[in-house]
Amino acid sequence: MRARLIALLLTPMMLFAADLQAAEDTRARDAATQLKDQVIEWRRDIHQHPELGNRETRTAALVAKQLRALGLEVETGVAKTGVIGLLRGATPGPRIAIRADMDALPVAEEVDLPFASKVRVQFNGSEVGVMHACGHDAHTAMTLGVATALAGLRDQLSGEVVFIFQPAEEGPPTGEEGGADLMLKEGLFERLKPDAVFGMHVFYTLHAGQIGVREGPMLAGSDRFQIKVLGKQTHGAQPWRGIDPIVTAAQIINQAQTIVSRQTNISELPVVLSFGMVHGGLRWNIIPDQVSLEGTIRSFDPLMRQQTFDSLQRTAEHVAAAQGARVETVIPMTEAVNKVTRNDPALTRRMRASLEHAVGADQVLTIPPSMVAEDFSEFADQVPGMYFFVGSVPPEQELASAEPNHSPRFFLDEAALEVGMRAMLQVALDALAGAAQPKR
Ligand code: NI
Repeated sequence: MRARLIALLLTPMMLFAADLQAAEDTRARDAATQLKDQVIEWRRDIHQHPELGNRETRTAALVAKQLRALGLEVETGVAKTGVIGLLRGATPGPRIAIRADMDALPVAEEVDLPFASKVRVQFNGSEVGVMHACGHDAHTAMTLGVATALAGLRDQLSGEVVFIFQPAEEGPPTGEEGGADLMLKEGLFERLKPDAVFGMHVFYTLHAGQIGVREGPMLAGSDRFQIKVLGKQTHGAQPWRGIDPIVTAAQIINQAQTIVSRQTNISELPVVLSFGMVHGGLRWNIIPDQVSLEGTIRSFDPLMRQQTFDSLQRTAEHVAAAQGARVETVIPMTEAVNKVTRNDPALTRRMRASLEHAVGADQVLTIPPSMVAEDFSEFADQVPGMYFFVGSVPPEQELASAEPNHSPRFFLDEAALEVGMRAMLQVALDALAGAAQPKR
């Protein structure tokens, strides 16, 4: 009887305490539910009006207008068309950065949607369709949602959030600078160095509702190379009078296939070597004097990267020498197209709980490293970073049949928008509450 009385007295108190905690815990969920329709609306608007890298003027104007309406401190024209929004919380605390990319791709949309892109522009001398085939429309819209939610909670926040709306993630047009690299060159992290930077990307290897993340290398580093094979021009009928760079180039391409398959320990981390361009010759009956090869190397480890460069160099030189030809090589062609996107292991371990809290532990998957590359790596190279995938495939569709990012048929299940927004919001709330820093 007495026990029952105590239980009767205790239960309402416990419920009250649990209620308080629940109320605390559902801020991200509540805000995401409330903002879902608005975020879909932004996403469709941006989707219908895609802009290529360094040309994101309409998108930037939309972003800046919204951030100003929220009362953020806004900078425009950062790295040409970028927008920075600074949200200050009520009390001092950590400074975190959340990055969204805004650019679209020269791809003609083939998805049958009422808000499909019909935009066409001039690009590298030809007219092309423009499409948000990589889902950056979703990133911009979700991050605007996160900014809106956090601005509404400003009184409860400690610290600062730097919203980075970045142009030209896919690379600037030929002859221009742009992207994360230019933002940093202009001093973004000198003015507003964050304690941690976060980014997300909608991706076709996961279902909507799922989040994918891993500690350490997450996206590959990307390098570009060029090999010029120099032979001696002759009549196609008299190959012995010259040196055939076409046959030599073919042998270099074939021999290069053993670099990854026979010389690289891919049981540790993957490496990819692909040729993307083979140019040579002007006429069917003339053996030309040179052939130009270009391609890409994707890797995760600095030593494996260097070994791949060395092997390719050796292969090109020796195969050419065996044919009496010569090579001129630029391996790598540039410093690196993209660095490895590396998730800070300690930060990722701490913030994984926020992702799990936001979407459910069973919906947060540890994924293998992906061979695609990202210039988020520039930010995460300067400060601890965490980057995660937001699944984009409708739950009823088989993942194997999903069109990849960059396809003209890339399709985003809009349910992903609420999920990504909720996840990033929870990460931001927890990071501002000190979760991103090591416990003292
Ligand atoms: Ni992308």
